[in-house]
Amino acid sequence: MPSCIRTDIPLAPHTTLGVGGPAQFFAEVDCVAVLEEVVIWAKREGHPITLLGCGSNVLISENGIRGLVIRYVASEIAYEERADVVRVTADAGVILDALIHELVLKDLWGLENLSAIPGHVGAVPVQNVGAYGVEAKEIIESVFVYDTSCGQTRTLTNTECAFGYRDSLFKKAEGSKYIILSVTFTVVHMRAPRLTYKDLTEYFGTQTQPSLHEIREAIITIRGKKLPDWHEIGTAGSFFKNPIVPLAVYEALVQRYPELPGFPQQDGDVKVSLGWILDRVCGLKGYREGKVGLYEKQALVLVCEHGATAREVTDFVARIIALVYEKTSIVIEPEVRML
Ligand code: EPU
Repeated sequence: MPSCIRTDIPLAPHTTLGVGGPAQFFAEVDCVAVLEEVVIWAKREGHPITLLGCGSNVLISENGIRGLVIRYVASEIAYEERADVVRVTADAGVILDALIHELVLKDLWGLENLSAIPGHVGAVPVQNVGAYGVEAKEIIESVFVYDTSCGQTRTLTNTECAFGYRDSLFKKAEGSKYIILSVTFTVVHMRAPRLTYKDLTEYFGTQTQPSLHEIREAIITIRGKKLPDWHEIGTAGSFFKNPIVPLAVYEALVQRYPELPGFPQQDGDVKVSLGWILDRVCGLKGYREGKVGLYEKQALVLVCEHGATAREVTDFVARIIALVYEKTSIVIEPEVRML
């Protein structure tokens, strides 16, 4: 067994929810050569491979994870000036918010609306991270991966990543063979503020030309008011996806709840705000069962106190799914990856 692999390592401290069992095998890897070595070992021994970043969007089961868990922690950032854009290639192990901080200092526009999201760059394409009117797919040019099926590296274009709302190739069976090594973003020197999201419009009011630094500060302030600090309480941000429903379903809901926020999608379906449904339809904002609950300032966010178990979290999640179905006939899905 390669020397960097350790056995029976608790995973709860490697996640922001802070629950779940151990990894059978665990390796922290900082270069492709060692990555290759541990992947070859796992395949030879017949162990499944699971990638873990910052653990800010995962719920690890009570039994932990069988096989090899890899944390890829390479963390270089490279810049390439082009005619009108800058290509920024960040290794998967770069902390997303540290990258954004650096980009703001360099006066490069593109990722600022994603400020203060916990997580590594490698997780950004997996769930097409989005916040405050921007989705990562809009600024990702390509993703450099290691293909565990053939032991080769390759570059996937933005289109090949098949991005959707909190979705991508990497969440599907055919993408599970890829380990993300780095992500190339396209950012610009030219002012490009995106302030259409309601919270930002309200924050800036009549100020129409905020600086890049001011936008980052605004996002950090808004997030700080709505989302709990994972250093203080277990959380993984929004626990569920906002459901996308057929127009007829949305219209029927609006008959009953005229204020329900809805966002039309290109295909005619409508994305509805589950936070609003949990809060205003189900009355579940701040609802708690033992050590697990929905956050009192944002109902879409699950929180769990120190000492909660993964089983308590999954039981709570199942109950919330059932309650939403009872009230709306919508089947909601976790946004957090259940491992
Ligand atoms: N709302 C309520 N009550 C609540 C929560 C929300 O009425 O308890 C209403 C809000 O007033 C608003 C609407 O629901 O009208 C949407 O709420 P919000 O703007 O907070 O956004 P969200 O749809 O709940 C999404 C992302 C967040 C992201 C925010 C801001 C998903 C699953 N979540 O939340 O992402 O920060 O928009 O862009 O799409 C994450 O993925 O972990 C995450 C935090």
